[in-house]
Amino acid sequence: MLSGKRILLIIGGGIAAYKSLDLIRRLRERGAAVTPVLTKAAEQFVTPLSVAALAGQNVHRDLFDLTQEAEMGHIQLSRVADLLVVAPATADLMAKMATGRADDLASTLLLATDTPVLIAPAMNVRMWDHPATQRNLATLRGDGVAVSGPNEGDMACGEYGPGRMSEPLEIVAAIEARLGDGPLKGRRIVVTSGPTHEPIDPVRYIANRSSGAQGTAIARALSALGAEVIFVTGPAQVPPPEGVAVTRVETAGEMREAALGALPADTVVCAAAVADWRMAEEATSKIKKTKGGLPVLTFAENPDILAEISQLEAGRPSLVVGFAAETDDVEANATAKRARKGCDWIVANDVSPATGIMGGTENAVTLITAGGAESWPRMGKDQVAARLAARIAEALQNG
Ligand code: CTP
Repeated sequence: MLSGKRILLIIGGGIAAYKSLDLIRRLRERGAAVTPVLTKAAEQFVTPLSVAALAGQNVHRDLFDLTQEAEMGHIQLSRVADLLVVAPATADLMAKMATGRADDLASTLLLATDTPVLIAPAMNVRMWDHPATQRNLATLRGDGVAVSGPNEGDMACGEYGPGRMSEPLEIVAAIEARLGDGPLKGRRIVVTSGPTHEPIDPVRYIANRSSGAQGTAIARALSALGAEVIFVTGPAQVPPPEGVAVTRVETAGEMREAALGALPADTVVCAAAVADWRMAEEATSKIKKTKGGLPVLTFAENPDILAEISQLEAGRPSLVVGFAAETDDVEANATAKRARKGCDWIVANDVSPATGIMGGTENAVTLITAGGAESWPRMGKDQVAARLAARIAEALQNG
């Protein structure tokens, strides 16, 4: 919640400014007071009247507005807030901030303040990728400015890539995290991640191609929102996130024990690619080549951790989230999987080799809930994680 928090929202001039209207609504729903500032360019995208109506406050637009200056000077305006939020932060606004320019109300407020600042960049993908913007971004980060997004996806200009402004709920989550009052504060969340290794004999094992990247990003995003995260990971290729409790396991059996042992929890996210089968009997010494023929491996089914947690009679977490890695009929298979396992949500992804998702940095997911299926645009795994974490925060708040 953001009760009593004062947000000074600077709306920059980009097509994403329309999302800032929803952001104002979301912030006010959570009890924050929003003082809006519009740049001249922003007025080309949203009207001062709609911003003022949603914020329930005057819109500040002009550096040399004598009436407003008499009521509250622009220096003071920048200091009475708990957080300055720039959304959308255009390439131009970022450049002004990074170089300390103060040639309009927005940039002057940003220079005159000692209040923490959060930006939600939004711009054309080439502008975002440009070394000048990346330099400015690094400078701003170095100055302690928090950054939400940008997300990757189709852009209003017809191009594809990073540059879309974070969704309002993601910005809300970042604001809550920044104000030290993350929406998941006090929540305990177990995340399983990575592959499992099922030994055949002391030197060989069955594995899969999961890198652990998505589960790791989810644990990091949940932790950033203030959750206490218990991260149960198989032998992954990426290191676990900082600041979370890590339990390293090898096999599905060990993962099950660690995940169940970490309960009770508010939420469990099963992002691990758990091996479905293990050896019925693990050889205690190395299986040797023999002239007599090929070895026969007999499998046994592994425990299904997601199904077991989803179907717990006592102590079931209020939100259980599973993943579905599918290659065909993604939505239909994932919807059936949700019902079969008894979890609340399934994050389904198409792992056909052509998508490059398994082991890659991007993901294209469909979120299956009781309400139906929702396809998210292809985006970085970090962005999928941020969006999922924001949704989890919202669900736990409403539940
Ligand atoms: N999962 C689990 N324990 C297992 C197998 C899977 O917790 N032994 C979880 C995964 O972490 C993931 C979800 O279940 O959240 C989907 O697993 P998947 O293996 O894709 O589903 P299956 O039931 O094996 O279905 P299918 O064989 O049709 O893919």
